[in-house]
Amino acid sequence: MGANRGEFQSRLGFVLAAAGSAVGLGNIWRFPFEVGNGGGAAFVVLYLFFCFLLCFPVMVTEIAIGRKTSKNPVGAFIGLGFKNWSIVGKMGLFCGVLILSYYNVVAGWAFGYFLEMVTGNFDIGKNFGAFVSDWQRVALYGVCFMAATAVIVSGGIKGGIERAARILMPTLITIIAFLVIYAMTLPNAMAGVEFYLVPDFSEITGSVIYAALGQAFFSLSLGMGALITYGSYVSKKENIISSAALITLTDVGIAFFAGLMMFPFVFSLGLEPSGGPGLIFVTLPQAFQTLGPTLGIIIGSLFFMLLSFAALTSTVSLLEVPVSYMVDEHNWPRRKAVWAIAGFIFVIGIPSLLANGASTFFSTFAGSDFMTFIGYIANDTLLPLGGCLITFFAAYVWKKHNLSEEIAEGNPNYKGSAVETFINIAISYICPALLAIITFFTILSRFFGINVL
Ligand code: PHE
Repeated sequence: MGANRGEFQSRLGFVLAAAGSAVGLGNIWRFPFEVGNGGGAAFVVLYLFFCFLLCFPVMVTEIAIGRKTSKNPVGAFIGLGFKNWSIVGKMGLFCGVLILSYYNVVAGWAFGYFLEMVTGNFDIGKNFGAFVSDWQRVALYGVCFMAATAVIVSGGIKGGIERAARILMPTLITIIAFLVIYAMTLPNAMAGVEFYLVPDFSEITGSVIYAALGQAFFSLSLGMGALITYGSYVSKKENIISSAALITLTDVGIAFFAGLMMFPFVFSLGLEPSGGPGLIFVTLPQAFQTLGPTLGIIIGSLFFMLLSFAALTSTVSLLEVPVSYMVDEHNWPRRKAVWAIAGFIFVIGIPSLLANGASTFFSTFAGSDFMTFIGYIANDTLLPLGGCLITFFAAYVWKKHNLSEEIAEGNPNYKGSAVETFINIAISYICPALLAIITFFTILSRFFGINVL
């Protein structure tokens, strides 16, 4: 590994950074509102099924490709000798840019809510609509957030990403645990738990399946090469299988607890679970208010501060992907790459910034709003498609035995194990086939209005 590329300092460092990429707005903002839109527990069941059956093998493959080549997602395919396949890496880069463009806007909301909570403005929950349509203010928060991301990414691997992830993740888990317990004590909490945990399978429609698959990929940061990039900084001593398992369990666990905290709050406050992207922003300030002014301010500020940090460790990984590409493949100095790309992505994000009330055109774009539309393209279509192509590539182009050899580094018992059999079957048949089929149906439904399922 080139000395100037950097490497994670320890096992925990990599797992924390990758889990930091995975855990973010996807778990705490997106997951609960997707559950609410998708009819509750039935969505949760599908999501869990997709995470473990389809996403876990994709994660292992991405990390292995990254570590094998020590390259960004485009360079990785070239490094393995398959230049034509680097188009998959380029698609990932494009998808990451789209995701970061709107993700940064929502991260700005979270940061803005932190400032509101510090001053005890619990009414911000009821005024969410006015808050997000105040585009100048939200743009300012977005600029701050993108700048913070850029500062961390220009610090490089050791200095920035790893250090931040190390401190913040455990604190976030603690505060969510506290809120889950508190939520359970509220009146009518059990109605929320029931909505969340008792599946009604008649709720499963094509649209719920596509959303659950997109959410699984998004939440685990898969399908666009973020974990190829992080994998490129991992040492050969690392056990890829157990790291991937730990990252998946942490991410799914946090999403699961975020839901367990949200729905009791939603039901006990008499709100609508299908509140869409505003769900946590409307619900939580009102829930914090019930804690009383002092505790409400403390918990409310702490919560939105930690949510902002969780978002930051994800935006960092999103920005790191195009930056590592420009640094490795086009020899840009790191600092120049960081600031140029961050500025570019901020500009791309302006329509999303205006899509929540500020501009009627973008707020009613393509039958929903521009931000939701980008989610259909990036999360629900390009990420699963990326996962499909990456597993197909590993199984049939790079070849299974090469993947196995890479995974066996740092994991001497891998070859011949049941895990190897599972990974091989998954990447050869289950992932490419299922992901291709579902992605195809997603495209028909989301963009052509043809609903097969
Ligand atoms: N997984 C992150 C989240 O849940 C979002 C993300 C997607 C980050 C893709 C990197 C790549 O918030």
